Amino acid sequence: MPGAIYAEGLVKTFGEVKALDGVDLDVPEGTVLGLLGPNGAGKTTAVRVLTTLLRPDRGTARVAGIDVLAHPDAVRRSIGLSGQFAAVDEYLTGRENLVMVGRLYQMSGRAAKRRADELLERFNLADAADRTAKTYSGGMRRRLDLAAALVVSPPVMFMDEPTTGLDPRNRQALWDVIQELVAGGTTLLLTTQYLEEADRLAHDICVVDHGKVIARGTSDQLKARTGGERIEVVVHAPGQLAVAEEVLRAVAKGEGAVEPHTRKLTFPVAGGARLLAEVIRELDTRAVEIDDIGLRRPTLDDVFIALTGHAAETEAANGEGDGDEAGTVTTKEGVR
Ligand SMILES: Nc1ncnc2c1ncn2[C@@H]1O[C@H](COP(=O)(O)OP(=O)(O)O)[C@@H](O)[C@H]1O
Ligand SMILES: [Mg+2]
Repeated sequence: MPGAIYAEGLVKTFGEVKALDGVDLDVPEGTVLGLLGPNGAGKTTAVRVLTTLLRPDRGTARVAGIDVLAHPDAVRRSIGLSGQFAAVDEYLTGRENLVMVGRLYQMSGRAAKRRADELLERFNLADAADRTAKTYSGGMRRRLDLAAALVVSPPVMFMDEPTTGLDPRNRQALWDVIQELVAGGTTLLLTTQYLEEADRLAHDICVVDHGKVIARGTSDQLKARTGGERIEVVVHAPGQLAVAEEVLRAVAKGEGAVEPHTRKLTFPVAGGARLLAEVIRELDTRAVEIDDIGLRRPTLDDVFIALTGHAAETEAANGEGDGDEAGTVTTKEGVR
């Protein structure tokens, strides 16, 4: 039986760009699918097609069992959406915004107010509840937009990069809310550039790049696919990266990564402690000074590198980043 979100052969072209190049999805009811991919991968386009905001050139999709092309209105009634389009009314206060959404969904005034207060508390907006949204910072608006999407719990939810630009505390708050939603039976499609987020929240992960699903599975399955352990070396001086890279490539089982700014090299290997000792000897022979060396299990970062040949860049794409949310973006520039 097809899942609560089902798509087959979705194609969407913008001029020369194939934003979606034959995407198939199947999300079982009550589970979370993490659509993981770098900027421009096609994540938002997929969400827009599935939420009836955009017609695909080709392919079919059903959400909550309803065909998105044939019955868009019925689909809209069954879904919640939060994302890169703010559903916030500037001239209402934070609380009024949330109460209004509750009223739109036929909640009683009292129930809507109770739900609004609960969400304002959760997203650390209680102190600003009676200010108009116009006075909110970008990060606060983003939280209000998320809260608005959570006033009612529809059977199927879409969240497009919900935590991009949130500080760690608010990110954690949102993760808690998501876990509760899903425990309550909601099916969720979540897009993210954060590997840790997919790891934490998603039952299944689809890795997308250039409009294609290039891998799918559970986090553990994806990690297992990329092979065994990683050797990680931090050299003392940037000038020694090249020699260290040569040493590691000679024993590596696949593509690795070199990060000049952290002086760290990571390569997949097989051979455990014996290999580790061998590498230490070889680096020593070639006069490479090591700050740190070790073996570890693969992370989703490694999965991404193995699949795409580059790291999942989380570039500072959050226009909302406005001081109030500093320090939330992990950049990995320089990773090959
Ligand atoms: N409305 C549009 N017009 C032209 N190009 C678009 C439009 N929407 C998306 N694209 C392009 O399609 C590709 C996928 O975009 P998008 O789905 O937004 O990726 P993501 O959400 O993964 O960052 C990108 O190359 C983007 O520039
Ligand atoms: Mg996007």
